[in-house]
Amino acid sequence: MPSLYRLLCLGCLLAPAGCEAPQAGSGTKAPKKRRRGPSLRKIPARTFLMGGDELSGAPGTKQVSLQAYAIDETPVTNSQFREFVKETKFRTDAEKYGWSFVLNSSLSKAVLQESGQHIESAPHWVAVQKAWWRQPEGRDSSLKGRWEDYPVVHISWTDASAYCDWAGKRLPTEAEWENAARGKRKESLYPWEGSSDISTSGRWMMNIWQGRFPLENLLEDGYHGISPVKAFQANSYGLFSTVGNVWEWTSDPFPTQSRQEEPQWTLKGGSFIDSLDGEFNHKATVVTRMGNTADSGSYNTGFRCAAGKGGGGRKRPPDQKMLQQLAEDGGIEAVQEYLKKSGSSAQVFTPSELQKTREELRKQESSLRSPEEL
Ligand SMILES: *[C@@H]1O[C@H](CO)[C@@H](O)[C@H](O)[C@H]1NC(C)=O
Repeated sequence: MPSLYRLLCLGCLLAPAGCEAPQAGSGTKAPKKRRRGPSLRKIPARTFLMGGDELSGAPGTKQVSLQAYAIDETPVTNSQFREFVKETKFRTDAEKYGWSFVLNSSLSKAVLQESGQHIESAPHWVAVQKAWWRQPEGRDSSLKGRWEDYPVVHISWTDASAYCDWAGKRLPTEAEWENAARGKRKESLYPWEGSSDISTSGRWMMNIWQGRFPLENLLEDGYHGISPVKAFQANSYGLFSTVGNVWEWTSDPFPTQSRQEEPQWTLKGGSFIDSLDGEFNHKATVVTRMGNTADSGSYNTGFRCAAGKGGGGRKRPPDQKMLQQLAEDGGIEAVQEYLKKSGSSAQVFTPSELQKTREELRKQESSLRSPEEL
């Protein structure tokens, strides 16, 4: 029979942020884990069909069963991220690199002129010196007026993982993210109930791009670039800003084209440059996904955290070929690091650790056989 203590603990894992951890009886205190960042929303256990939209990057469907878990109601905001940085002195990857990618039409003329580098296949993405979370559009920008309501951006997978850890949470799995974004009507490709055609329902329900990208933005949704996290209606689970606005990191690996490539992690939900029908950039739905390396972040990359035992719906065991390549390139240590980061319960040992384990076992054996024991 599970002890009362365990039941209480599960209760506090799933409680909304700000709720005090209940205390177990007879004078023992349940460990109090302070949760920080956005409020958590409870997502009940259920089975749903994940994927199922070709233009969103997942043509096939997969039945996934999830235990109950909780997920942040919004992406992490600038002021929430500032609290983490103040306390830990954390430096994001964009700061370390000294630059990040920004959409050209969001830059001032001055910064645009001095930023020569862009992506060959996507010239509207410009490498901007000193663009990082505090200066999303480079040196002449600031977060004035955007601290409380706007999602933090230029965030890498490594940055996001560190924040969630600090906040007493973790990154959601891709399945958890998609399931939560669908809301109560799990068949929906969009966070809201009812019609998928948001342009005829009269009101835009998410921050994506209308017009001819990148030259024309009709602003029908009211925003050129990033919008406040609560600019649009919440879904039936109380989640805001899932599809569109900024991409959000998950804890799932993303398959790469070849073994030579650096491992990638899955991002969900598309961003403000995406389209309703996939005519340009991505088609924006709850299924929309892409991958990027752990140190990558840009002007449209943010995240939210999750909580609860979960880790549910992890789709694949680690790719054996990729692990082999990792081991060849970086040794067992690289594999261990990868498994740890991906939240896998699988374990590998270095030869010396294996030796130690064997010695440990032998010692136990011999002590068992020692005369005192017999
Ligand atoms: C942004 O880049 C695109 C090329 O993709 C170009 O056509 C457009 O004029 C640029 N806009 C600005 C404001 O520089």
